[in-house]
Amino acid sequence: MIEGSAPAKIILFGEHAVVYGQPAIAAPVSDVRARAIVEPNPPDRRGLHIALPHFDFPVSIAAETLDSALALTARLVLDALHAHAPNVTLRIESQIPIASGLGSGAAVSTAFARALAAAVGKQLANETLNALIFEVEKIHHGTPSGIDNTVIVYERPIYYIKGQPIEPIRVGAPIHLLIADTGVGASTRVAVSAVRTLFESDTARIQSILDTIGSIAQQARSAMESGDLQMLGRLMRQNHTHLQTLTVSSSELDRLVDEAIGAGALGAKMSGGGRGGNMIALVTPETESAVRSTLLKAGAARVLSTIIE
Ligand code: PMV
Repeated sequence: MIEGSAPAKIILFGEHAVVYGQPAIAAPVSDVRARAIVEPNPPDRRGLHIALPHFDFPVSIAAETLDSALALTARLVLDALHAHAPNVTLRIESQIPIASGLGSGAAVSTAFARALAAAVGKQLANETLNALIFEVEKIHHGTPSGIDNTVIVYERPIYYIKGQPIEPIRVGAPIHLLIADTGVGASTRVAVSAVRTLFESDTARIQSILDTIGSIAQQARSAMESGDLQMLGRLMRQNHTHLQTLTVSSSELDRLVDEAIGAGALGAKMSGGGRGGNMIALVTPETESAVRSTLLKAGAARVLSTIIE
């Protein structure tokens, strides 16, 4: 079977500040994935089609119809590979919840791009793919920092500064995280533009918060590399407080963060665009099950777990 796949992702530190040039840290969630499977077209069908769980549609890659992220992905991939659209159907399957800060859009586009390249008998280098998915991310996010596409394409924990070469992080001790969904869908684009408005109305104060978040991300990198989980937990709590000041948390996120800490998590914070979506909690194998059941009792719609190692 020919297919392409890509993982979900979480942002551990530095969301929003990363848009303003501060460092941020993200990690893949490799057991929650988007896949695109290449299938032969039925005899009555020609051209490139996409099959989503509920409907199939032909992909038009003419310039005037590039409103869809997947159509744009298809055109960029075929242009980069100097290939014609193959006569196949790409079936998309994704386990990643949408609009929840787990990178669903970038992961589906990445899986689709890899499958399409395979369908024309080629492979896309990660560097090319990353640049191409960044273009597609602009449809989802408006002014993306590039962190989502980078962590998803390279599928490793990264320390990321916009416009700079990526720096993989090697962790000193396994980091056990729970990822809890508020069940509230939220638009990253709206949250990013709210921070922009705040920044423009009170630049000096917001800049100093962004600088502090950047310094937290720097310290977090050292804590991850040295395996200092207590310190990492403290930094997560601090980062969450600053995200509250930037108005991108929500009562549901704050509640899950407080409950996780109350149940023994070393730290917790919202993750991603905010105002809904997911939060993350740093646990140990000993506290994981108590924190998980507390999060579910506190109203989490879903709790995933992942280990960064
Ligand atoms: O909502 P997510 O997980 O896709 O995260 C967006 C991260 C932001 O820093 C808020 C925006 C960006 O482009 O980096």
